[in-house]
This record gives sequence, C-alpha cells and structure tokens, in this order.
Amino acid sequence: MPKHFLMCRPEYFTVEYAINPWMHPETSTDRDLAIRQWEGLTSVYQSLGHQVSLIDPVEGLPDMVFAANGALVVGGRVYGARFAYPQRSAEGPAYLRWFTENGFPVKEPAHVNEGEGDFLTLDDVILAGTGFRTNLSAHQEAQEFTGRPVISLTLVDPRFYHLDTALFPIDGRNVAYYPAAFSEGSREVLARLFPDAVLATDADAEVLGLNAVSDGTHVVINAEAGDLQLELKRRGYEPIPVDLSELRKAGGGPKCCTLEIRGEN
Ligand code: ARG
Repeated sequence: MPKHFLMCRPEYFTVEYAINPWMHPETSTDRDLAIRQWEGLTSVYQSLGHQVSLIDPVEGLPDMVFAANGALVVGGRVYGARFAYPQRSAEGPAYLRWFTENGFPVKEPAHVNEGEGDFLTLDDVILAGTGFRTNLSAHQEAQEFTGRPVISLTLVDPRFYHLDTALFPIDGRNVAYYPAAFSEGSREVLARLFPDAVLATDADAEVLGLNAVSDGTHVVINAEAGDLQLELKRRGYEPIPVDLSELRKAGGGPKCCTLEIRGEN
C-alpha cells in the first residue's frame, strides 16, 4: 500500500538552540549536507512508490524539517500540534495552514502535543508518548477527535524525548522499541500488547535507530542501526538504510522528517 507523506526541505536548518540533549548550538552544522541527506530520504520514499507532498519551509524555524511534529492525521482528519517550546511554537499554525489550504478538516488543539512525534498509529490503537513534550491531556483530546483508543506511554530518558525516538510500528500490529526509554509500567504495557515486539539494543537507540518508517515491508532506518537491521531482516522485513547524520545533530532521524497523511480508512 503506497503511503502519502508530508515533508519540509531543511532550507533553514541549523542548531541555534538546545531543547533536547542531542542539540549543541556550539557545534557547526552543514545546511547543504542536511539538504542532500534529506533529498536522499525523499527519493527513497519515491522509489518505494510512496507519495511525497511538500510544505514550504519558514525562515527562522530551523526545526521545521521535522514534519512529524506538525500534526497527527488519521482518517483524513487533522489534529494540530501545539509545541512545548516557544522556539517551535510557530510551526503548529504553519502546518495547520497547509492542511486547511489542501482541503483537510483540521482541529486546533487545546493541549500541548507534538503531533506524530508522540502519536504513533497502528491498526487498532494509537500509542501516545508523554513525559517530555506532549501532555497527558492531549492524549485524551486525540482519542476524542480520532475515535481511536489512545494508549499512554511514559518516556523517562531525556535523549528519547518523543515517542518516535524510542518506538516505531513495524506494521499495523507490531512494533520495535527500546525498553529503557520507558517507565516500568509502560514497559509492562508494551510487553502485554506486543509480546512479539522487536527489542532494540542501546547501540541502536543511541543512533536514533528507532526513528524509522516502515510501510510493512520496507523499513527506512538510520544506516548506523546495525543490530536492528539484522533483526528486521531475520523477521522478513527489508531495511533501507539512510544517512541523516546531519539532522541527528538536532535530535532527528527519518521518522522525524516524515508526517504520514492517513486517508479515510
Ligand atoms: N530539534 C527538534 C526538537 O527537539 C527535533 C524534533 C525531532 N522530531 C521527532 N519527531 N522526534 O523538537
């Protein structure tokens, strides 16, 4: 099944503030390299038959390349983002405007949430992260809006500040995750829901290997996540390694750059 992704070219990419432990404003960044790596990711999606739509980057919003944070789109309906940090707050309205202009019904959120960074949609449930960015009250709001059961998971390690840095759906029914990123209770919930999950190693997590995008067959994943790629292969998936090392300086990987536009099914 081809997917539809919204992405934002890292035209104004830089690391000029630090809102997660990956970000070091004193380290230099190479915008052209970031653009080349991002273009590599978009062409991987296109070569796999997925559709890529683009939102115009906005000057002064260096993290806007991380489209996943822009909204949660389920059943053709858009639940907008409301960012936790002022440095990114203008991105929420920018993404909502794109969806409005493209004919989608949108909901302005009342509660702080960072879109698909913290909401990951499976066939029957939406997994939702909290602890660093998205508020628990937004999980309830998203459940009311989407009509899908939302399962709250608590993140405890600041390096894995969004759910999509610690877990990804391999298909509509199973996930890969890094257990140490979650509270004890959340680990129990994950073990109960996904007894057959792929468990990532420290080494996989430390290169943002969990920030991957699967279409159920191919898994677009940071090239450095070696153990995870081996395990995915062993289970019959096809890992497609990508190099997003420049964007990792802002704490982002392939999934962060990718907002899935889910239609009405
Ligand atoms: N610098 C960005 C931030 O800290 C990175 C966002 C990564 N996005 C994601 N979906 N995890 O907000």
